[in-house]
Amino acid sequence: MKKIGVLFGGVSSEHAVSCLSAASIIPNIPRNKYDLVLVGITKDGRWLRFSGDMDALANDTWDQDPSCVPCILSPDRATHGFVQMNPDGTAESIYVDAVFPVLHGKNGEDGTMQGLFMLAGIPFVGCDLLASAVCMDKTVTDMLLDYHGIRRAEWRFITKANKDKVDAFADECEKALGYPMFVKPANAGSSIGVSKARNREEFFAAVEEAFRHDAKVIAEREIVGQEIECAVLGNDEPTASVLGEIASGADFYDYDDKYINDVSELFIPARVSEEKSDEIRKIAVEAYKVLGCTGLSRVDFLLEKATGIPYLNELNTLPGFTSISMYPKLCDASGIVYPDLLSKLIELSFERTEEI
Ligand SMILES: Nc1ncnc2c1ncn2[C@@H]1O[C@H](COP(=O)(O)OP(=O)(O)O)[C@@H](O)[C@H]1O
Ligand SMILES: [Mg+2]
Repeated sequence: MKKIGVLFGGVSSEHAVSCLSAASIIPNIPRNKYDLVLVGITKDGRWLRFSGDMDALANDTWDQDPSCVPCILSPDRATHGFVQMNPDGTAESIYVDAVFPVLHGKNGEDGTMQGLFMLAGIPFVGCDLLASAVCMDKTVTDMLLDYHGIRRAEWRFITKANKDKVDAFADECEKALGYPMFVKPANAGSSIGVSKARNREEFFAAVEEAFRHDAKVIAEREIVGQEIECAVLGNDEPTASVLGEIASGADFYDYDDKYINDVSELFIPARVSEEKSDEIRKIAVEAYKVLGCTGLSRVDFLLEKATGIPYLNELNTLPGFTSISMYPKLCDASGIVYPDLLSKLIELSFERTEEI
């Protein structure tokens, strides 16, 4: 029996989503193969071992549970796991074979956690420090995709240090991209801080809003067409799932649409020709490899209606895993049921152990 540490919550704007993902994952990890140690990170960054029930996790009240005790991941390789501080003042080491970080966004999906796992010498599910960090920052992802000739929507970016030059930035974006434009924080997720700007006034408001979430803001040409997603799974020989499509009920696929209203419609498989599907799946695997992903990533595309060109939008190294999430659904449609997918992800973390 292997012991797996499951981490959830986190100091991130996607904290609540992570708790939802964890509430779906935890009951589905096969218990005949794995013992679990659940450790949550509060919004203000405290680490607590949790042994309460899944309802408290799903509605994000888990940190009030009487079962919670302080429990931190030790960078000391001899511990190979957590150190729990008991109420009687004693400390206890908890060995784990691997960790499954069910964390989205900053301080979880961006390489920071992965660095800690690497330092501690503990195998972990998902991408390593570098790939996580690269995929988290849309400007860095975009530069590498441009370098490798993987097509994406034309883009420009501005940093907070240059905020006083936002007029010149608007001029440049208007010339290069045109309205409507998508404006987003370089580091975020779940559509938080993303807006569609239809004119200069909206553009300034959008930039302002995006700066509330990050010190770097990116503007992109709008790609009108279908929103397509591909689940990629594996280490050296990754495989691409059948494609999924999201027909958003809102103006675009925003936070409420993703997690609250549930008005968007999913199509699995996506409504594209077999030829187009093969083309997109090939690009997904290529992007996964050039960015150094391992374990899993959801690769998102915008397929332009007018031209039939697939533009890569982003890679999510720890995509949503809630019951309505695309990644597990795409794997399921490709023949890997949810508990098997979770086992596979854990096994992939061991495959990479020598490299840690
Ligand atoms: N260039 C674009 N053209 C058209 N729609 C876009 C574009 N960029 C983003 N969107 C819309 O905004 C949503 C959120 O943007 P995305 O880049 O995926 O950010 P996040 O990392 O927050 O998911 C997308 O799912 C899509 O609906
Ligand atoms: Mg997205």
